[in-house]
Amino acid sequence: MAPLFSPDQVDLVNSSNDIVEVVSQYLPLKRSGRNFKALCPFHSEKTPSFTVSPDKQIFHCFGCGAGGDVFSFVMRKENMTFPEAVRYLARRANVQLPEADPRAASRREKLFELHRLAADYFHWGLTRSRAGERAREYLNRREITKDSIKTFEIGYAQPGWESLLNRARKKGYPEELLVEAGLVIKREKGGGCYDRFRDRLIVPVRDGRGRTIAFGGRVLDDSLPKYINSPETPLFRKGGILFGIDRARVRIGEAGEAIIGEGYFDVIRAHQEGVENMVCSQGTAFTEIQAQVLKRYTDKVVVAFDADQAGTAAALRGLAVFLEKNFEVRIIVLPPGEDPDSFIRKHSGPAFEKLAQESRPLLDFKLDWLCKQYDIAADRGRMSVARQMLESISLIENAVLRETYLRKLAGRLGVSPEAVQEEFGKRKPPAPPSRTPAAVPEGKIDKYQLRLLKYLMGNDTFFRRVEEELYPDVFSPPLQPVVTLMLELIRQGQVPLSKTLVGALRDRRAQEMVSGWLLDSDGSGPEVGEAVQLIINLARKRVRSELLRARRELAAREGLEEDRALILRRCAALQKELQSLPSRIREKAGL
Ligand code: CTP
Ligand code: MN
Repeated sequence: MAPLFSPDQVDLVNSSNDIVEVVSQYLPLKRSGRNFKALCPFHSEKTPSFTVSPDKQIFHCFGCGAGGDVFSFVMRKENMTFPEAVRYLARRANVQLPEADPRAASRREKLFELHRLAADYFHWGLTRSRAGERAREYLNRREITKDSIKTFEIGYAQPGWESLLNRARKKGYPEELLVEAGLVIKREKGGGCYDRFRDRLIVPVRDGRGRTIAFGGRVLDDSLPKYINSPETPLFRKGGILFGIDRARVRIGEAGEAIIGEGYFDVIRAHQEGVENMVCSQGTAFTEIQAQVLKRYTDKVVVAFDADQAGTAAALRGLAVFLEKNFEVRIIVLPPGEDPDSFIRKHSGPAFEKLAQESRPLLDFKLDWLCKQYDIAADRGRMSVARQMLESISLIENAVLRETYLRKLAGRLGVSPEAVQEEFGKRKPPAPPSRTPAAVPEGKIDKYQLRLLKYLMGNDTFFRRVEEELYPDVFSPPLQPVVTLMLELIRQGQVPLSKTLVGALRDRRAQEMVSGWLLDSDGSGPEVGEAVQLIINLARKRVRSELLRARRELAAREGLEEDRALILRRCAALQKELQSLPSRIREKAGL
């Protein structure tokens, strides 16, 4: 079980980075005797209990209990894994490290190459091929210009079942790599593969450096699903990228802010009409990773919002990641039924930029919106508004801003600022996020869950296919930190997993436990069929407990009709999921 780095290398990186210097990059430290102190970055406090020791080269917060060495600090602060923190600090101190795993690295290179080939092939399909005529007409009708087609390398996937497959095979790429790239899918019966994207318009998804890492495929008519996207691969993690960031990053820096939309075509249209600081989340909720990436270029985001969107409450909550990362967040409200694409097409790029300039801070928007949703003449209504506003206000780091919004809230509700302040004071500081694999909790280990984990550790391809279906919290407590780490590693494309796992576990007990499992040779591991059944059971367990929680919430929200309607909708969706999940999981697993 070779860890990623030798202990010597880790030591060298450690001793080349003075923890006081590293921490000072993030927060102002004040000397206090032998140590340094600051306000803790991991929980909110008024008097400094975050302590850094230059002698011992460690930190500890006496308020929230966070603590560790320079690696742990960077891991927490930058949301990195241990190996990432080692690399990051190595770079910082100019320490040379060997490539993590040469085999995995060259495999990633191959995957990039293959995506390059596919992007070219799709682009040819759109611009040159006979079958591409319909797609050309489609874009023409939508008024997407030749320039846009070129800059975004828009493409078209041929209608055949093996077009890309044949093309890539001819160029010498093995089928297995195409499967790993998510470009082809294994046939259920009879062996062989077929193209994932067929007769669709293709939008390449590129990383910040402009390398294609995934594709989105749109139908040319109204059939469903409207989009098919690449699955998660070693190059592509859902929620790991903002579409358009490669084209938008420079402009974001210049403009001082990023505009965020929802869909591929919002971004393509915006750029076409000169709004070049626009990116989108590909229809999913915003993630911390996306916020972190943006933070490199700006700390202002403007989010384009569909005003009469049913899920406004949920969408607003989804913006919390930006508040947590100290972004200034503003909201563009579009006329009902419009998205940025249609708005810009109807009006113009500058008209949209004007909307962005006139957009209002998230908290003002939220306060107005909540006051429309609830009857603030009623006690219950005022309490709901206060509760939901305080959720956001508590995320604001700047004390002046926080105070401003507490006062605005008080004014709106017709109560004294002191009352709101008092409620605010009751809120517990949010638990510091724990991203490092925590120590292994005591407890009984479910024998079947363990069998499943052992199977997953030895079957990377299978693991990656079903990875989305696995959630750590349904496992026995002692297994949870390990599952969390396994998922993290497999999503980063760290294969073979069995090799990297132990090295990445920093908890001694966890390391001992897992190396034990890996070396345990009692043989008879589960067959794929059993593994799939175990995953289905776990998924059922998760959905059932979510359903239970939703029902409890429903009971607790008596009288709050808006909330209840949302929860009821969620219950219905969960019921449906319970029905459909076995077939979904079997399909993903290739059974
Ligand atoms: N999306 C997806 N799968 C779907 C629907 C949507 O992945 N079945 C993602 C796509 O990234 C899409 C985004 O969610 O761009 C927003 O969805 P939508 O507004 O429906 O798509 P548009 O980009 O606006 O597409 P169009 O204007 O062509 O209808
Ligand atoms: Mn659209």
